Amino acid sequence: PEPLKVLGKRKGLNVGNALSKHHLHNPAYTALMARECNMLVAENEGKWQALEPRQGAYEFGPADELYAWARSQGMLVRGHNLIWQDAKWLPKWVNAYDFGTQPAQAAEALLRKHIVAVCDHFGDAIHSYDVVNEAVDPKTGGLRVNVFTERLGAVEQMDLAFRVAHERAPKAQLVYNDYMRPDTGSTKHRAGVLKLLHDLKSRGAPVHALGLQSHIGSWDEMGTGDQQREWRRFLDEVTGMGLDLLVTEFDVNDRKLPADVAKRDAGVAALAKDYLDVTFSYRQCKDFLMWGMADNFNWLQSWDEAPRTDGLKMRPTPFDDQFRAKPLRDAIAAAINAM
Ligand code: G3I
Repeated sequence: PEPLKVLGKRKGLNVGNALSKHHLHNPAYTALMARECNMLVAENEGKWQALEPRQGAYEFGPADELYAWARSQGMLVRGHNLIWQDAKWLPKWVNAYDFGTQPAQAAEALLRKHIVAVCDHFGDAIHSYDVVNEAVDPKTGGLRVNVFTERLGAVEQMDLAFRVAHERAPKAQLVYNDYMRPDTGSTKHRAGVLKLLHDLKSRGAPVHALGLQSHIGSWDEMGTGDQQREWRRFLDEVTGMGLDLLVTEFDVNDRKLPADVAKRDAGVAALAKDYLDVTFSYRQCKDFLMWGMADNFNWLQSWDEAPRTDGLKMRPTPFDDQFRAKPLRDAIAAAINAM
């Protein structure tokens, strides 16, 4: 079959995948990605925690290696991410930072220093940045609190992050990235994201697109009317603000689907087709990135918060452990062709 990137090219859609540094030592996997994709995002190596694990001790090596490989394949690169609002994923030293007697100035200086260091190091190698990741608390729809929001105000801090990124990476697309979903369990999350985007836009922050992480699952039954309507309402409002859409971290959680592999794979493919048909119907949707292309290279296998109750391995990605295409791959291809 034709590679996904070839199908995507006809529709103006980039097709990408999240790669980790250790995957570079798996030639069959990199060959699969090179065949199907024209875009790369580092699964972990571009995060602050990875880039500056100890204050001042930058470790750009792993991200550099991934981006160099992408460049050698003619791929575009997405930078993920400059600021992760969830304190749990900020470097420990940042959470313990001494902001002194002028905490607002010190917080601004620290934020600025990080973004400048990263943008200056990578330069034009980065086509698109997730400037801010996961700022909205899904339970309340309010903004998450961290050492920066406490000292600068949350919207002010994110506005600053976008401005500094734009200053230092003027050609890069700047993205707010989050995991809001179509279902009713995500109503507050979607509302919180819309409010944040409106607030950032009204301050004139240079935000260009919304990253739809798209870790979908049985909850996203788009076929069933209401949720599809809600998702469209959400995407209408986002695109109405002049923002582009990116599917940034696609995979399908199959924990509610039957154990039988054929049934499960068919269920996964159906969920994906419904979700992507609606999402790809927006001409503003320009990128589609998978969060791992093969089942054994996907974070859900080691995510213990909500495993399958039968203990079976998940089948969340388009290719199996032997890199054989699954029905999900056909569903993605069909959704791209229907754009
Ligand atoms: O690298 C260390 C290793 O040295 C250590 O021995 C090992 C022991 O736990 O941990 C390794 O770090 C792990 C890292 O992934 C690299 O594999 C962390 O524990 C683990 O928590 C981390 O998880 C990543 C997670 O983000 C948190 O950063 C997942 O791989 C990654 O898939 C996941 O990706 C996120 C996106 O960034 C944002 N959206 C949601 C998505 C899925 O959770």
